[in-house]
Amino acid sequence: MNIIDIIVKKKNKEELTEEEIKYVINSYVEGSIKDYQMSSLLMAITINDMSNDEIKYMTKYMLESGNRLDLKDVVDKHSTGGVGDKTTLIVAPIVASCGVRVAKMSGRGLGHTGGTIDKLESIPNINLNLTKEEFIKEVDDINMAITSQTDNLVIADKKIYALRDVTGTVESIPLIASSIMSKKIASGAKKLVLDVKVGNGALIKNIEDARRLANIMVSLGKENNIDVICMLTNMDIPLGSNIGNTLEIEEVLDILTNKKDNNLRHLCIEISSYMVSLGLSITYEEAKKLVISKLNDLSAYNKFLEFIKYQHGDITKLTKKARVYNIKSNVEGYITKIDAYKVGRLSMLLGGGRENKEDVIDYSAGIILNKNINDYVNKGDILFTIYTNKDISNIDLNILNITKDKIDEQSLIYEIIK
Ligand code: URA
Repeated sequence: MNIIDIIVKKKNKEELTEEEIKYVINSYVEGSIKDYQMSSLLMAITINDMSNDEIKYMTKYMLESGNRLDLKDVVDKHSTGGVGDKTTLIVAPIVASCGVRVAKMSGRGLGHTGGTIDKLESIPNINLNLTKEEFIKEVDDINMAITSQTDNLVIADKKIYALRDVTGTVESIPLIASSIMSKKIASGAKKLVLDVKVGNGALIKNIEDARRLANIMVSLGKENNIDVICMLTNMDIPLGSNIGNTLEIEEVLDILTNKKDNNLRHLCIEISSYMVSLGLSITYEEAKKLVISKLNDLSAYNKFLEFIKYQHGDITKLTKKARVYNIKSNVEGYITKIDAYKVGRLSMLLGGGRENKEDVIDYSAGIILNKNINDYVNKGDILFTIYTNKDISNIDLNILNITKDKIDEQSLIYEIIK
């Protein structure tokens, strides 16, 4: 078999066979297919798509590229990635404090979206490279653990994910579906809540594509005996008000200590309720009551602190060593758009994300939004605050619209697909 023939076949919109997909994944992992060849094939897939069978084989051979875990009775969650999306860090302690085991393998930022591991790394000393044994022991001891993908699990995804991030091939339904589901099947979870983000700040821009991705992932789940609930949620505006690694950890603490009530808190309650209903086999309504009580009595907050301490992090040593700029309004009116894509990109340019594979993140960098949709602003009001160590003179700070009239309320959750 020859990689060039396979690239040309995909370029010509032909369907790849199981054998060809197996060859591509195995040879890329073992190194005989080079990054530039794989990039070319990934671009052909991004442009010309894959059939459901191709996606099934892609998932299967990615899964087989590494080991599998057998985590007993855990409920897992995964988001396709958004701006300000720190839900894992809030949902995992809520769900664990309800008595459901959560073992989460998370990733780094992709494109303009942030990654849970980067956010957690802003906590000094934290260990996010748990061995399989440490990961399982922590879940046994405190009901939750979060680690970066362990070395030998879905090795193909580790390599492909990093390459996609820097080759404009992130926004592809077959690549997203196989990346997420190979990891979820490998982790051994039998119950899973997926948050497919839709909107201009998400990898998926419209509801039809989101539905297709959700249905593919639900079917891949069924074929592998995993109960999947897929939520389609709004990513036209950022989740919460803080974007950037340390700033996001601060917002996690604000939500868990009930200091803030916003779209982030609402979404976390919804995701947690579906996870708890799956985990405890109770109704969604019963689960939601339990979730809210664990937030209100600070059990979830205490679980978060327990988890950080278990993984040797020191939450008292969060630092923001950056210059601070308040950006003020020079007009008056209602805020009618906070452009999630532009906010994510701005955070990256301020140092909070990677433009290139080898870039080092500045954990202090980011944005705090001071206003919500439909808030009225006067001239001179602070719209948002930025934290950065970069020169901002050539950075576009135009991330929101102010108009004369309010807009209609936007939904946070569009659909649930099971
Ligand atoms: N999350 C993943 O794990 N993989 C993707 O491709 C996109 C989001």
